[in-house]
Amino acid sequence: MSNNQDSAFLSTFRGVLLGLIALTLLIIVFVSFVGGNAQKQSDIEREKTAARLAPIGKVITDPSVLAKATVAAAPREALSGEQVYATVCSACHTGGLLGAPKTDDKAAWASRKGAAGGLDGLVASALKGKNSMPARGGKADLSDDEVKAAIEFILKQAGA
Ligand code: HEC
Repeated sequence: MSNNQDSAFLSTFRGVLLGLIALTLLIIVFVSFVGGNAQKQSDIEREKTAARLAPIGKVITDPSVLAKATVAAAPREALSGEQVYATVCSACHTGGLLGAPKTDDKAAWASRKGAAGGLDGLVASALKGKNSMPARGGKADLSDDEVKAAIEFILKQAGA
C-alpha cells in the first residue's frame, strides 16, 4: 500500500467512525424520547386503573374526622321517664302484653323489684332484655338514664 492509499483509507475510516458515533448518539436520543413517552403513558394508565379500582365508600378511621362526625349527629334531648314510658314501654306494660307486668300491678312490681335486687337490678334487666321483654324496650337508642327514668316512672305509677 502506498502512502496515498493509507491516508485515503484512514480518512474514509475516520468518516465511517464519526458516522457511526453520530448514529449511536441519534439512537440514544431517540430511545430516551420514545421511552420517556411510554413511561408517561403507563403512568396515565396506572392512574386510570387506580381510579377504576378505587372503592366507592371508605371506612373513616381518622379520629379527628370521626369526632366531627359525632358532633354533627348532635345528641337529641333526653326524654323524661314519662315520655319514654308513653312512647315505648306502655305498648306492652299498660295492658300486660306478652305477659308484661302491668304498670298498675303493685304486687307484680314489688316482687320483681325484690327479685332483681332493687331498682338497679330492674334497670340492668331492662337494658339487656328478659324473655319477651326486648332490650331497652326495643328502642336501642334509649340511653341507660332514659330507661332508668322510665322504670322509676312505672314504679311510681304502680306505687311499688
Ligand atoms: C314488646 C313488649 C315490651 C315493651 C315494649 C317493653 N317491655 Fe318491659 N317487659 C315485657 C315483658 C313481656 C316483661 C316480662 C319479662 C319476663 O319476666 O319474662 C317485661 C318486664 C320488664 C321489667 C322487669 C324485668 C325483671 O327483671 O323482672 C322491666 C323493669 C321492664 N320490663 C321495663 C320496661 C321499660 C322501661 C320499657 C320501655 C323502655 C319496657 N319495659 C318496654 C315486655 C315489654
